[in-house]
Amino acid sequence: MILRVRDVHKSFPQPGGTLEVLRGVELEVREGETVAILGTSGSGKSTLLSLLAGLDAPTRGSVEVAGQDLAALDEAGLAAFRASQLGIVFQQYHLLGGLTALENTSLPLELHDVAAPDAETRARDALERVGLGERLGHFPHELSGGEQQRVAIARALVVEPALILADEPSGSLDDRTGEIVMGLLFDLVAKQGTTLVLVTHSDPLAARCDRALRLRDGVLA
Ligand SMILES: Nc1ncnc2c1ncn2[C@@H]1O[C@H](COP(=O)(O)OP(=O)(O)OP(=O)(O)O)[C@@H](O)[C@H]1O
Ligand SMILES: [Mg+2]
Repeated sequence: MILRVRDVHKSFPQPGGTLEVLRGVELEVREGETVAILGTSGSGKSTLLSLLAGLDAPTRGSVEVAGQDLAALDEAGLAAFRASQLGIVFQQYHLLGGLTALENTSLPLELHDVAAPDAETRARDALERVGLGERLGHFPHELSGGEQQRVAIARALVVEPALILADEPSGSLDDRTGEIVMGLLFDLVAKQGTTLVLVTHSDPLAARCDRALRLRDGVLA
């Protein structure tokens, strides 16, 4: 199993009482599997992905990625683990505004001590695969929302991670564009045999995954 989630709970203390968003999530994902996570807005999908990425800690329960219990790692260990094992596509793209598409994409490789010319070649290749070969020198503000999301996908794929966690963009992209961009990610992942956990609102896209689960009342079913 590349991913093992056991009895994960997540609560947020609020002035009016504790908000229990996740209430015992169980999930096991095999290597190379594609899993869609559906659920209404506010059901906790992004919260769950941030726990899988080790960006936040569960209130209770455990998350294991590639045999590593995330709770056993400190901040630096988590950062190194994410850089080497995970490709993350957030709902907000988190591109660095001062860097071009090419620089944003090659950054994870450079953090990995890949030599600059090699990193640039691989980044260019990743951007070509998402159809942005003509936009290498553009800064994020010079790209459309869908293009920015595609840069985020190229950046997630470039290190050839063991597991990709992707949150479908909402708000800034219309549904159709979001679906096209996530479909592109799906195609690339399928070609490489990478494991994917994909949050999506699209039933057709979910149907293309090996499994589709729904997050409801704090549990996955
Ligand atoms: N840091 C936080 N503090 C308090 N409440 C939070 C926090 N993060 C998320 N929540 C609440 O948890 C619930 C789940 O949020 P989450 O972002 O996971 O939803 P989602 O399923 O991703 O929704 P969407 O489809 O709109 O992206 C929401 O009601 C949200 O207000
Ligand atoms: Mg969300």
